Amino acid sequence: MNRLYNALQLKRLYQLKQLGIRYVPLVEKRNAPATTLPNDLEALERIVAECRLCALCKTRTKTVFGEGDPNASLMFVGEGPGAQEDMTGRPFVGRAGELLTKMIENAIEIPRSSVYIANIVKCRPPNNRVPTPEEAYTCLPFLMKQIEIVSPKVVVALGATAYHYLTGDKSGITKVRGEVVDMGAYKLIPTYHPSYLLRNPSAKKEVYQDLLKIKRLLCEN
Ligand code: URA
Repeated sequence: MNRLYNALQLKRLYQLKQLGIRYVPLVEKRNAPATTLPNDLEALERIVAECRLCALCKTRTKTVFGEGDPNASLMFVGEGPGAQEDMTGRPFVGRAGELLTKMIENAIEIPRSSVYIANIVKCRPPNNRVPTPEEAYTCLPFLMKQIEIVSPKVVVALGATAYHYLTGDKSGITKVRGEVVDMGAYKLIPTYHPSYLLRNPSAKKEVYQDLLKIKRLLCEN
């Protein structure tokens, strides 16, 4: 809850910065409500579809909210939509998505439809560049709300961007992959992004170990 509140405050600061305001006195509101975002995925998706809070709205075709089982115990978080996701409005439907589906169905041995899949940013960054901190922090409250609503047991951070914005830790993905991070309400496991695996197939064996670990975590009470 606190992390969501902090992310919302950061989002407001980045919005002000984008409007040209360089200094904002911090007003402490200890009893402020944790969020003004709805506790309902469909209502949240409608807000995201209309979002104009950062410059990515100007170049997107469709917002990519996320999809899957709203009661999933396993959630995957990527970086941001690519070209095919931008066209279809669905996460991980391109080549990286095909590989992610295989990872879920062949290694964890559950259907893709039984997990929830989302991204750090909901709009495609031009030329698939890494989202800027402004874009990521502006969008992050939507993802935090999705995590709060779905309430998964395990969240898999796909790649360094997802790991960094979900945990605040700037460590490289090679160093942290496969570690289990206790996030309080859920366990987080970072692993390599499927796009990285397409370029570096030899890293698939490490990801396979991470996926087996995820499978074991899901079976624990
Ligand atoms: N890469 C991502 O990080 N997310 C997608 O939805 C697709 C590719």
